[in-house]
Amino acid sequence: RTVYLNGEYLPETEAKVSIFDRAFLMADGVYEVVSVLGGKLLDFDGHLVRLKRSLDALAMQNPLSDADYLEAHRALVEKNAITDGLIYLQVSRGNPGDRDFAFPSDDTQPTVVMFTQSKPGLADSPAAKAGIRVISVPDQRWHRRDIKTVQLLYPSLAKMEAKKAGVDDAWLVEEGKVTEGTSNNAYIIKGGKIITRELSHDILHGITRAAVLRFAREAQMAVEERSFTIEEAQGADEAFVTSASAFVTPVIEIDGKAIGTGKPGALALRLREIYLEESL
Ligand code: PDD
Repeated sequence: RTVYLNGEYLPETEAKVSIFDRAFLMADGVYEVVSVLGGKLLDFDGHLVRLKRSLDALAMQNPLSDADYLEAHRALVEKNAITDGLIYLQVSRGNPGDRDFAFPSDDTQPTVVMFTQSKPGLADSPAAKAGIRVISVPDQRWHRRDIKTVQLLYPSLAKMEAKKAGVDDAWLVEEGKVTEGTSNNAYIIKGGKIITRELSHDILHGITRAAVLRFAREAQMAVEERSFTIEEAQGADEAFVTSASAFVTPVIEIDGKAIGTGKPGALALRLREIYLEESL
């Protein structure tokens, strides 16, 4: 792979970052994941807007212009001949040359990393269409989940809980209500109405979420933004998740209980189709 590091395109084996980098020592960095389908970037502008929000929220400098980010994404797609896949982008507070809790001075350059992950057939993965099974686990993350930081240890632990239980993913629960999935936003459908938690500091403001809700409203589907319990989800007609890498993926089982017919729901599959059609 050819990767991007601070303005340079390098073979991945030559892209080196300091052990003092703030992302490495403090998880002091933010990231974005953009999907590529047929060589095209999906929702790039939305991801860029959120990147800047994350940087602002942490008082981190933005080292590149919008045009620079776009150019680097396009260059990586081309250099790595990516048809379908993902582009990972990370900006950290850089390398102050030592470990210190206080932020480094403003002349410390942020570290910018981008790399591709090739995933041929990303949009027609059978698993995504067949639906996924989830378990619920307590949400033990920090309370600014709207900032997309690289502090991903808890989501990673939750994912391992799911794997240990023999299922695909975990839904995180706080004060009795589902916040979101380990790396996706969570939805249920009841009586034709799409229900998903309202935006706040409690969840990541998914770029795919915004697009899917917009398309749903345009297609005259009812949308209600509010939180729901695992019990309500288990009694729903359908459930699904959204993210840049999963698009719209049906959920067919929650904590061992089949949702609806136990097969991917018709509305979830329809939303997946609409999202893929409209975003390309
Ligand atoms: N995850 N919620 C969480 C906690 C996430 O990590 C993500 C994305 C989402 C969905 O956001 P979006 O639609 O903008 O991708 C919701 C990415 C894909 C990841 O960490 O790989």
